[in-house]
Amino acid sequence: MMTRNILPTGEARMTILRLPGAADIHVHLREPGDTHKEDFATGTAAALAGGVVTVLAMPNTRPPLADPTTFQEAVRLARAKARCEVGLFLGGTAENAEIVASVAPQAAGLKLYLDETYGPLRLEALPAILRHFQAWPGPRPIAVHAEGRTAAMVLGLVALFRKPVHFCHVSRREEILLIRRAKERGLPVTCEVTPHHLFLTEEDLPRLGPFGQMRPPLASRADQEALWANLPVIDAVATDHAPHTIEEKQGPHPPPGVPGLETMLPLLLTAVAEGRLSLEEAVRLTATGPRRIYGLLEPPQTWVEVEWGGSWTLSREGLFTRCGWTPFEGLTVRARVRRTVLWGRVVFEEGTIHAPPGSGRVLFAGLDSR
Ligand code: NCD
Ligand code: ZN
Ligand code: ZN
Ligand code: ZN
Repeated sequence: MMTRNILPTGEARMTILRLPGAADIHVHLREPGDTHKEDFATGTAAALAGGVVTVLAMPNTRPPLADPTTFQEAVRLARAKARCEVGLFLGGTAENAEIVASVAPQAAGLKLYLDETYGPLRLEALPAILRHFQAWPGPRPIAVHAEGRTAAMVLGLVALFRKPVHFCHVSRREEILLIRRAKERGLPVTCEVTPHHLFLTEEDLPRLGPFGQMRPPLASRADQEALWANLPVIDAVATDHAPHTIEEKQGPHPPPGVPGLETMLPLLLTAVAEGRLSLEEAVRLTATGPRRIYGLLEPPQTWVEVEWGGSWTLSREGLFTRCGWTPFEGLTVRARVRRTVLWGRVVFEEGTIHAPPGSGRVLFAGLDSR
């Protein structure tokens, strides 16, 4: 079973955990167009440093991944620069339902932005949303940014179209309760929750200022408690790694979004150390669960070694994300990624990335994608 990879080998008070490589099914790698924030090389370096070997990248780039030509160009860039497994989403617009459906097999899924967010992709009108539900052939899900009553609207469409839908960054009590009910009724829905919604609340906003601003926003303590109380309903923890530069965040119109690839496993394994979830549950939420949603195979000869039980302080220093900051600055954690092994090769070890740009692999995009 999935616990076979977990081999506590430590003596004394420090334990070395050997875990399956994590899959982060919601990241923004900003390429093409915003490589001053992140690119395929820096974003996948951050992934490996965080024990993440597979990432699914969102289509709200400049230009967005909403037509076959731009999508193929992003595939080319990812092949040239990525250091781990990367899958790419297609983005839905008011005009492209049939076009994106025609290249569906090459994508991780279709992303629909139905509420306010960062970037040019935003679907407002019901006819356009319906066209996407009609045209998308699968087999991978339609992923939605749908908050509050928009989430309830999407559940209505799932019931009518019976197509798999994945809810991104669920953050509020009513949303997780609605999804729980939908699952109880047998609807084909899955959902993810971010580390920031699990470990931060709106009470952290005065301290974090613009560095605590993202969509959906940090929620109330009651919302956060509802997420923790419904862990069995949650299929995956996904970072929504959304890098923006420090200058942009401190500017007059701070863009929403926070980075997360390098802090997800330390935070979750700290919660394990504190008895808030089991190690098996952490593995389900970061590896087996997310892989099941998108049909991602576990890469062979791949694992993460985590030092567990000590005490470390999260800091921007040594981060590989180009944005160079974390909303968890100063937090004490009980775990740290020591080594990441992908396809039998040590790709990250003791603060150093060993995988060169281009040594990764683009998923789904064709037999020639290695
Ligand atoms: C994301 C981004 O910056 O691309 N921002 C965010 O606050 N989550 C967009 C998104 O995931 O909605
Ligand atoms: Zn979103
Ligand atoms: Zn996002
Ligand atoms: Zn080394």
